[in-house]
Amino acid sequence: MPDSFLSDAAGFSRLSYTRAGAGPTLILLHGFPENSGLWRRVVPLLQDHFTVLCPDLPGAGGSALPSEGELTVERMADAVLAIADNEGIHDFHLAGHSMGGYVALALAEKAPDRLRSLTLVHSSAAPDTEEKKAQRRKTISLLEKGGKDAFLREMIPGLFGPKTKETNAALLNEQKERAAALPAEAMIAFLGAMMARPDRRDVLRNAAWPVQFLLGEDDFIISAKDVLEQAALPARAGVAVYPDVGHMSMVEAPKRLAADLARLAVEEAAV
Ligand code: MLT
Repeated sequence: MPDSFLSDAAGFSRLSYTRAGAGPTLILLHGFPENSGLWRRVVPLLQDHFTVLCPDLPGAGGSALPSEGELTVERMADAVLAIADNEGIHDFHLAGHSMGGYVALALAEKAPDRLRSLTLVHSSAAPDTEEKKAQRRKTISLLEKGGKDAFLREMIPGLFGPKTKETNAALLNEQKERAAALPAEAMIAFLGAMMARPDRRDVLRNAAWPVQFLLGEDDFIISAKDVLEQAALPARAGVAVYPDVGHMSMVEAPKRLAADLARLAVEEAAV
């Protein structure tokens, strides 16, 4: 559970996050429909080597939606920077899962000097396709009509690979519970923010730090073809494809994910 809070920062009445461990900082940004609890299997594997910060993105967990105006990925990036500032941390390794990756890219564009490395965990720098936007509009309309449960029933199984679905129903239930805790209003705000995000492939082209792309072999949400093309853009980049993993390596393959996060940080420190 979040143990640290920040009041009235970056246009948010309240921001919450967890902090664990010591050493160079690694910030982990959760995706949609999630909160910082997503990382609970990964943090214990990293905290001996890093100070690990896991924010609740605005609207999720203990963090509020903006006091005024719309939620955007850029405003979520401001919230993450406010949390780092509150901790007195200038530069950090940054990893974002899916929507958290969209936020990480917005942060990298705003404050490139704050990053030491970037890991996109089942995420992409490409904007939404028109088809994806139409799908999100349908979801928003369903949520506005009180259809949160129906949306989650359909969405959650699609996050996982077939092997996880067959062998680990408990993971799906855990995910359903975390997602159900997110108010429909916040879900609608996240969907709007994701739809409005621009193409950020230039962030990858201009990256002065190493970028790592992690893909699940059975991920049907992120296009592997797009991501493999994006992996050619940064000067220093690595790609890993996880077998038997869908969109959720932090719960489907937490040891492998933690090892890849730690390795990138060690390699960057050696440059
Ligand atoms: C996520 O996992 O954050 C979302 O599925 C991302 C998206 O819908 O683009």
